[in-house]
Amino acid sequence: MKKTLVLLSCCFLSAVSFCQADTSEIAVVPIPVSVSKSTGHFSLPQKVVIEAGTQPEMKQVVAFLKDRMATPTGRQVSTAGNASTATIRLVLNKTTDNVIGKEGYHLSVTPKGIVIKANAPAGLYYGVQTLVQLFPKEIESATAVANVNWQAPCVEITDYPRFGWRGLMFDVSRHFFTKKEVEKYIDDMVRYKLNVLHLHLTDDEGWRIEIKGLPNLTKVGAWNVKKVGYFGSFTPPDSTEPRDYGGFYTQDDIKELVQYAKERFVNILPEIDVPGHSLAAVVSYPDLSCTQGADKYHVRSGESIMDWSHGAPPIALVDNTLCPANEKVYVFLDKVLTQVAQLFPFQYIHMGGDECPKNFWEKSDAVKALMQKEGLKNMEEVQSYFEKRLEKIVESKGKKFMGWDEILEGGLAPDAAVMSWRGMQGGVAAAKMHHDVVMSPTTFAYLDYMQADAIVEPHIYATLLLSKAYQFEPVPDSVDAKYIIGGQANLWTEQVYNMRQAEYMTWPRGMALAETVWSPKAKKNWNGFVGRVEKQLGRLDEAEIKYAPSMYDPIFTVSRTADKQLKIELTTQIPGLDIYYSFDNSYPDRFYPKYTGPLVPPKDAVMLRVITYKGKKPVGRMNSMPIEELNKRADGKSQE
Ligand code: ACM
Repeated sequence: MKKTLVLLSCCFLSAVSFCQADTSEIAVVPIPVSVSKSTGHFSLPQKVVIEAGTQPEMKQVVAFLKDRMATPTGRQVSTAGNASTATIRLVLNKTTDNVIGKEGYHLSVTPKGIVIKANAPAGLYYGVQTLVQLFPKEIESATAVANVNWQAPCVEITDYPRFGWRGLMFDVSRHFFTKKEVEKYIDDMVRYKLNVLHLHLTDDEGWRIEIKGLPNLTKVGAWNVKKVGYFGSFTPPDSTEPRDYGGFYTQDDIKELVQYAKERFVNILPEIDVPGHSLAAVVSYPDLSCTQGADKYHVRSGESIMDWSHGAPPIALVDNTLCPANEKVYVFLDKVLTQVAQLFPFQYIHMGGDECPKNFWEKSDAVKALMQKEGLKNMEEVQSYFEKRLEKIVESKGKKFMGWDEILEGGLAPDAAVMSWRGMQGGVAAAKMHHDVVMSPTTFAYLDYMQADAIVEPHIYATLLLSKAYQFEPVPDSVDAKYIIGGQANLWTEQVYNMRQAEYMTWPRGMALAETVWSPKAKKNWNGFVGRVEKQLGRLDEAEIKYAPSMYDPIFTVSRTADKQLKIELTTQIPGLDIYYSFDNSYPDRFYPKYTGPLVPPKDAVMLRVITYKGKKPVGRMNSMPIEELNKRADGKSQE
């Protein structure tokens, strides 16, 4: 029955274009708005001619395409302004095509050649990204690859984004990442048509941007003591430990980064996180604090400085806040923001506002006097007073003010845009008040969270599976969609010590985000996405970009049987996997028992080892799960 249906629909579709049931060659992420595959292939000739305009914005579009067409293939690639013999034509529409907007494109691949048309260079860039994904995965290689059939399937694609704001946040404060590393992060994100890089530039662990006239921010505020282990519980550094770990971007670095991003159609959103998360600034200039003794503080190296046991906001053990009752703070912020506004052309500046502890403010005579003078009833209103003044400063620099959803508390500043992270509700509330919102909820978009069970992932306090990340829907039914300007995923780096780990945490969950914010909602489909992600992972291998294989790992669910025995259920996020296991401490393979239903471990078993296979191929990692840990989970006593 199903077969007949497929056949019938093929016959119907063939009136429009020849239908082949096999579209498996096409595994574009994010999935385009419309893909119509036709018969045949385009084969890359020995000499490739690219026709493109010479506008400055086209420079990187052409450079990228040339590099991909030449480096792995060994082909000779040249450019021509207007060549009738061109193999690949990048055409800017003379009359605007209203369907595709500023970032959309049409891509046509025929045996004779390739044409990409767009209204603007950004669209051509995204068309080129899609085109590259149509070639064999080896096209991603940084070196020549022999014996590859350099072909792309014939196809007509029309594509444009759902949202204008398609963001990734990179925390360069908790661990410093060099300019080159940030550029690499940009290279990786544009593969999937993401276009906002939010740089979290300041926090308790480091101030990362040179501000002229405030030298201590980078002389003192950019450096801490290198520690490894579980961030948050490091032993406080002693005076003999060198404070030489960190770094910052000079203003020239920032200009280069901004230019690098611009050439790749990425806006950089700078974040200066205040009034909380400001220890690096306070250590640099202690009179920004309400608290006596701030001159004895140090930039945090990952030792405990907050008590979270009472929930949010935390109780600060050291005062990591700027003093809202101190005029010097506003002078300081004016100086910082004057320069930040000049350095970053993006229309928004993000001013943080999250997780600001209030316990030191409660003790401050200056804050008490401010409350009396301004008629502020509580600490939320004190923060709101601060945010409203800050908004005025940001706007005086010709920029739009954005903050985390805590800026709603005590009253939202009149024109503030909100980045909703504590779920979606802050964003919903802001959108209902007609403020612009970017959704980046922990529940779907926190890339610092673990991607599989804690026994195989670097430890962190929460988990975000790829399958959950893919469920992200930035526009709740209850709001007017026009206020949701986009979505974003956030990579906090407390536990991310190097670039390879940053890649591991970002991919493939960044692909789930990309599909959410680029593709039409109706096009999203988990099983289809998984198939395309698997192809993309092969491409990332070629490009030598690290990613998490966690979607292949099992999910352990435990409960108690009626007679109180441990009952273990194993599932997988993705379809089509077989699970093999052992209780005898040895490492299972596909000749071991295959999981078919709930397990009760043998009486004295100490370890459950599990591995997943796809057919004959092991795909998951060896998960070695102590039975003791599962017992703790069943009894609600596990730390995981
Ligand atoms: C945040 O995750 N504190 C915005």
